[in-house]
Amino acid sequence: MKIRPTKGLTFDDVLLVPKHSSIASRQDVDTSSWLTSTISLRVPLVSANMDTVTESPMAIAMGRAGGIGIIHRFMTIENQARQVARVKRAEGYIVEHPHAIDQASSIAQARALMKRFEVGGLVVTNGSDGLVGLITQRDILLAPDDTAPVSSVMTKPDQIISATPITSPEEARALLHQHRLEKLPVIDEHGRLVGLITAQDIVKQGRYPGATKDGKGRLRVGAAIGVKPNDLERAEALLAAGADLLVLDIAHGHADHCIHMIKELRRNFPTAQIVAGNVASKEGARDLAEAGADAIKVGVGPGSICTTRIVTGFGVPQLTAIMDSVEGVAEAGRSIPIIADGGIKGSGDLVKALAAGASTVMVGSLFAGCEEAPGATVIRDGQKFKVVRGMASLGAAMGRKAVEQGEDESAESQADWDKVVPEGVEAVVPYRGHLDELLYQLVGGLRSGLSYGGAQTIEELQANAEFIEITPAGIRESRSHDVDRI
Ligand code: XMP
Repeated sequence: MKIRPTKGLTFDDVLLVPKHSSIASRQDVDTSSWLTSTISLRVPLVSANMDTVTESPMAIAMGRAGGIGIIHRFMTIENQARQVARVKRAEGYIVEHPHAIDQASSIAQARALMKRFEVGGLVVTNGSDGLVGLITQRDILLAPDDTAPVSSVMTKPDQIISATPITSPEEARALLHQHRLEKLPVIDEHGRLVGLITAQDIVKQGRYPGATKDGKGRLRVGAAIGVKPNDLERAEALLAAGADLLVLDIAHGHADHCIHMIKELRRNFPTAQIVAGNVASKEGARDLAEAGADAIKVGVGPGSICTTRIVTGFGVPQLTAIMDSVEGVAEAGRSIPIIADGGIKGSGDLVKALAAGASTVMVGSLFAGCEEAPGATVIRDGQKFKVVRGMASLGAAMGRKAVEQGEDESAESQADWDKVVPEGVEAVVPYRGHLDELLYQLVGGLRSGLSYGGAQTIEELQANAEFIEITPAGIRESRSHDVDRI
């Protein structure tokens, strides 16, 4: 038995001592940071892989804002891969595998496909890569006979204006405008259909200049996996759908099965970016870094919906966990980023987590109240709320069992309610409107924080950081006091 001589500290236990600053404006600072060894973000925020936080709408909004979303894993493999694909299709100059339909299919089938894939048009093929037409919502909206073949209403080959793989965005824009088109198929030198350029995507190109994009101009997105036997299959499907990173996410990541899985992933997908966690100690971070992870996710029990520390007695206050993990990664001789996961109540905590050595910060409940988070709003006493639940809560555990038993994720397993030992709770959070409004406040606070730290960048913030431990009186003084808030 040993007792550590130092206290474990968390965000509210400390403040950062202001440093001399030569920064004239908050706009002059750079908030970019590394998510993994090769992926950087302009905004160091990651939305949590929780089923009340990140599915494709949240991941799209996060990516557009310069952060990133991690699609949770509590759904079937097919559904999770579809969520990833949706994010990859949300933007991007050329849609690589446009949804297609065979020329002999009926108008009703075209209608159903458009609805299923949430697209306004399909390319019509002759069964292989050969383009024989284009069909859009407009072509079928008022079609009198739903059983007629799509070839009867599609735009015919001789009327199709197309682009080539080397058509520039400016040329595509001109073509689309000149012919008043919405879609431009991309045909290679062998006459094969290799993509689709849409007017919508050209418009979106300039709308989110700070977005997190891959080499093909598509939004980046991550996806979570576990350590179950079919998780290698899940990883393969997610990477095939375009996932930019895999987040190997287990509550107690400092475990043989996590280390083994990192190695298996490395062996099977040598170029994939792999984030692993969660850990909360120097040794945990060191071992996952040595196993080959590209970033380490840190946090055992700091989350707003977590009860792990109460149920098991284990955990490390988050600020200390971050600092210890930074040391662990250094001990492994790796310079990979730390993702601080959980416990963020506002921009002050974000600044403290980064100053303590994290490169990015994962946020759950704070984002769960946003419009883009899954789930409907509920009204209570005239106020709007959204539901958030820990992924180890009773409801989430039963939903997960249902998926494991081959049911749809919306079903909750009826079996074994009393066999679950929850380590999380279900709760409501105030509805916060659209994500970009909340991000504006968080990133604004971070920009101010950098300036108080005399830092142009997050690396400088870390280098200059001097934490001071505070007392309950110090916390009281930090909050608004002795006034009646309106
Ligand atoms: P916040 O504070 O941002 O934390 O809501 C989000 C993080 O909490 C973790 N998480 C859990 N931890 N039991 C736990 O002990 C749970 O049921 C649970 N669900 C989520 C997770 O790391 C998440 O990113």
